[in-house]
Amino acid sequence: MLITGANRGIGLEHTRVLLSRGWHVSAACRDPGKASELKALDPGDGRLTLLEYDAARPGAGKALASAVKGPIDILFANAGMFGPREQGFGQTDYAGMAEIAQVNAFAALELAETFAGQVAQSQLKVIALQSSRMGSIADNTSGGYYAYRMSKAALNAIGKSLSIDLKPKGIITLIFHPGWVKTDMGGAGGTLTVNECVEGQLDLIARANPAMNGRFFHVSGEDLDW
Ligand SMILES: NC(=O)c1ccc[n+]([C@@H]2O[C@H](COP(=O)([O-])OP(=O)(O)OC[C@H]3O[C@@H](n4cnc5c(N)ncnc54)[C@H](OP(=O)(O)O)[C@@H]3O)[C@@H](O)[C@H]2O)c1
Repeated sequence: MLITGANRGIGLEHTRVLLSRGWHVSAACRDPGKASELKALDPGDGRLTLLEYDAARPGAGKALASAVKGPIDILFANAGMFGPREQGFGQTDYAGMAEIAQVNAFAALELAETFAGQVAQSQLKVIALQSSRMGSIADNTSGGYYAYRMSKAALNAIGKSLSIDLKPKGIITLIFHPGWVKTDMGGAGGTLTVNECVEGQLDLIARANPAMNGRFFHVSGEDLDW
């Protein structure tokens, strides 16, 4: 697996669980030097590769190409930010809007463009996008959160096109809402632990099949409206 945002939260738990199952994980994060929890997971047998990656930098995904060789069963674009502090009407931080679009949406497309060939060479052939129900237009009944909602809606649109464009390569693109998860972003009020979220997402990935391609899934397996 190649996963971004691997130093904490949901990405760290994906890395921990897959290493414990014997997988090789390429774990990308902004500052590997400071990623102490991630480094502590290293089984010391070459199965964990740490990669420096800042999703805010266009070109950062392509720059990983030389460091990640061979088939990739799961490409997981997980890194994400909640965005500017103020996201209410009349408070828009437009520079912040541009940054969150890059981090939460454009960076995932760049990863897919860079690694689709290697995903296609693998057994599972899954591209997973860590989206959010807050990107659902149908589910927006409370307004606000312009930056975060826009970035995840854009990610969903990217995921849908990937599912069509990469279908001939046998790649299955899964678009996920992880649930409300107790992480720095989700806060202590989250209803799921990182482990519950990750076990659920890995179950969905394990049964990925063409009928699931391009769908927006709650971690429970329920389909979400766009
Ligand atoms: N928790 C929830 O309830 C929830 C709900 C819906 C969706 N999600 C999505 O799930 C994903 C993971 O979130 P989380 O809950 O695990 O949050 P988290 O604990 O805040 O972790 C966010 C991760 O994304 C990384 N990241 C942020 N900006 C980055 C950048 N510019 N370049 C590279 N990495 C960057 C962070 O790295 P640093 O340590 O360097 O900042 C961190 O590893 C996100 O895409 C989020 O939108 C979470």
